[in-house]
Amino acid sequence: MSALWTSDEVARALSPVAMSGAFEATGVTFDSRAVGKGDIFFALTGETTDGHGFVADALARGAAAAIVSRDVPGASGNLVRVADTMKALVDLGRAGRARSNARVASVTGSVGKTSTKDALRAMLSAQASTSASTASFNNHVGVPISLARLPRDAAYGVFEIGMNHPGEIEPLARQVESHVGVVTNVGPAHIGHMGSEEAIADEKACLFAGMRSGAVAVLNRDNRHFDRLADKARRFGVARIVGFGRNDAADARLLACDLQDTGSDVAANLHGRRIEYRLGAAGEHWVLNSLAALAVVEALGADVLKAAQTLAEVKATPGRGARRRLKFGAGTIELLDESYNANPASVKAMLAVLARTEPAPGGRRVLAMGDMRELGEGADAFHAGLADAVAASGAAQVFLCGPHMQALWPRLAAAQRGVHRPDSAALAGDVAAALKAGDVVAVKGSLGSKMKNVVDAILAASGGEAER
Ligand SMILES: Nc1ncnc2c1ncn2[C@@H]1O[C@H](COP(=O)(O)OP(=O)(O)OP(=O)(O)O)[C@@H](O)[C@H]1O
Ligand SMILES: [Mg+2]
Repeated sequence: MSALWTSDEVARALSPVAMSGAFEATGVTFDSRAVGKGDIFFALTGETTDGHGFVADALARGAAAAIVSRDVPGASGNLVRVADTMKALVDLGRAGRARSNARVASVTGSVGKTSTKDALRAMLSAQASTSASTASFNNHVGVPISLARLPRDAAYGVFEIGMNHPGEIEPLARQVESHVGVVTNVGPAHIGHMGSEEAIADEKACLFAGMRSGAVAVLNRDNRHFDRLADKARRFGVARIVGFGRNDAADARLLACDLQDTGSDVAANLHGRRIEYRLGAAGEHWVLNSLAALAVVEALGADVLKAAQTLAEVKATPGRGARRRLKFGAGTIELLDESYNANPASVKAMLAVLARTEPAPGGRRVLAMGDMRELGEGADAFHAGLADAVAASGAAQVFLCGPHMQALWPRLAAAQRGVHRPDSAALAGDVAAALKAGDVVAVKGSLGSKMKNVVDAILAASGGEAER
């Protein structure tokens, strides 16, 4: 059967109050802008918007059905009426999980979730049908949507699970019921809501709640919270702990890596077997993500050597380290787009990549950074604490914006200082105007800092994509 969901299956999963005609659906969404032909559209009610306002439009655009909790005047098409649309989404996700024979991995961590999840998608889908969460669909909506999208015949499923507040991971983990769970690392991301790194570690370990029997926990052996996570995983009933990292005790151990600006050559020891591979994404952080992903592949029972070969094709995505060569003036510039996300670990990882990236003759390293958000009371100290890494990056010009970046500004070498502005909209023009052919420019900040404004200004000032 090719349909993702039939109306009979939806009826069984949701026990609706009322339901109009029969249908077959090929997708599931809650985003009215993304709704396509054949989708089931969930009318979720949020704090600011109510999906019911988009039901008529979704059906007009070919949605197979809409899941609603009240009357929708003017809607013509299949309506499935439930008491609570959010609960209905969770129910459909659970039904998607329950019917699946896929081997399932869940991914959490302070940083590197999407990168690791996307690497797993690439590695596993080269071997068998694989379904993975879209983008960072990792919260109370993203997880059930991703489960509801799991095709009935998928061999592998990979799900990202995230959190901003205590208590968020466990219920999501219990929906995913994974066979293998990986915590990429534990650091101060979102520490503002969480209090301490220990509290963050304990929250991440809730990934191991409700796993299937024989479960495997893949943990960062180099992280100082390794033992804490391993203990908690065992208490949740995990059968096997696999460590990855540089540590001698790691089961997926980094032996050597040659880091280049466009990727790395890696040698690792995986459960006693030496493997060598090329990784298409740059930076040591990516090397560690790839080790974690290989450990997950092994634990899922997929072919590790084949998976390792796929890593050559894995690239950083836009906003998460993707590189673009752009025509600029009489030459080109290299843009490192990290505008999607920032915390102390990922900023330092990016600065290390920038340090290894050689500008073209006559060019310089230019750095544009906006605030790292959600770091709580220590936020200014975390920002000021980037000074050494910024100095080591070799950036000739540094452009900053946001109130917390103000704390880093006086710690920059005088010669490095470009400008500090209140926000990215104000900064964008300064950065674009400062660039010249040959430069490498790195742009980084939390999503809320909107550093995409700077990326867009650079793109607008450029002559478009250049040949590599
Ligand atoms: N292991 C890592 N250590 C440090 N930085 C990393 C690591 N992996 C990825 N990064 C960098 O961190 C940024 C965010 O990566 P990614 O999107 O994979 O994280 P995430 O955990 O999914 O974030 P989010 O919480 O926004 O979903 C990217 O710029 C990426 O290059
Ligand atoms: Mg993510």
